[in-house]
Amino acid sequence: MLVFVTGATGFIGSRIVPELIGTGHRVLGLARNDEGAKALTAAGAQVQRGGLEDLESLRSGAAASDAVIHTAFRHFQHFRHDLTRFVENCEVDKRAIETIGAVLEGSSRPFIVTSGVGVAQGRAATEDDPPIPPSATYPRASEGTAVALLERGVHASVMRLPQVHDTVKQGLITPLVAIARAKGVSAYVGDGHNRWPAAHVTDVARLYRLALERGTAGARYHAVAEEGVPLKDIATAIGRGLNVPVVSIAPEQAQEHFGFLGFFAGRDAQTSSAQTRAKLGWNPTGPDVLTDLGNMRYSQA
Ligand SMILES: NC(=O)c1ccc[n+]([C@@H]2O[C@H](COP(=O)([O-])OP(=O)(O)OC[C@H]3O[C@@H](n4cnc5c(N)ncnc54)[C@H](OP(=O)(O)O)[C@@H]3O)[C@@H](O)[C@H]2O)c1
Repeated sequence: MLVFVTGATGFIGSRIVPELIGTGHRVLGLARNDEGAKALTAAGAQVQRGGLEDLESLRSGAAASDAVIHTAFRHFQHFRHDLTRFVENCEVDKRAIETIGAVLEGSSRPFIVTSGVGVAQGRAATEDDPPIPPSATYPRASEGTAVALLERGVHASVMRLPQVHDTVKQGLITPLVAIARAKGVSAYVGDGHNRWPAAHVTDVARLYRLALERGTAGARYHAVAEEGVPLKDIATAIGRGLNVPVVSIAPEQAQEHFGFLGFFAGRDAQTSSAQTRAKLGWNPTGPDVLTDLGNMRYSQA
């Protein structure tokens, strides 16, 4: 297949590209500058110049391809500093998904849309659980936008991601390291027993490829290798890496201590991927997140 990949130059997208090319697919990667185009060409991909705001570039990329994987998102850092910008970024994402979907309407060409893992109370969330509903504090609507496309005859599916890691980046754990460095303590909320799911980036890239090849319309996949790693263990690994004390923060102080991460820091997000593994034959083999945190070079993080 020729696969249009948005975000092909990003942390996850840049691992999806070699995974696809290495298994006989071709890639048309979205690049918004010369640097991105150069990296994609070096990786053996074709280049679609444009951006999420350039809807014609998205239409062209989708029209030329047999499938689309959407991983681009305006950088999450904006959320940290400016919620208004994040609201705008979510709107840009929604419009991009709708634009690509309109091109794929009435075809069997797969469209995989990236989202985050869902939530459940007192048990592991499964693929059947709804996503985090868009709200004033977290207005992202990627999944709902993809699901709405199903009614319009689009072969859409959703890839829900946990903390995706290697020894350089680890999803929301990366800003957690920055907060610990800035504050001089590595913190968790309450007893720190709340859990975050995780997966190594190479396993995640392979799962996108499997979903492309074997996936069904309307499916929700969980790219989860570890169901839940206690925040206390994550904070302890960070404390060791930065050589700072590990402390507990009261829930009512979480917002003040963690800033934008206050929304996530105390959240128990244990997540199963049993259905995904069974349906797609996915068997994650990469290192776990605590191993990657142990091997990270904190002086450069
Ligand atoms: N990493 C995680 O643990 C994690 C967890 C849950 C969900 N996710 C979601 O997974 C997706 C990929 O994450 P990631 O970690 O790979 O993110 P990333 O490293 O920040 O990559 C983002 C990608 O989007 C591109 N992009 C940003 N703004 C753009 C714009 N205006 N027009 C076109 N392209 C644009 C970037 O291009 P440039 O290279 O030109 O900047 C880059 O290719 C995102 O939707 C993210 O929210 C990630």
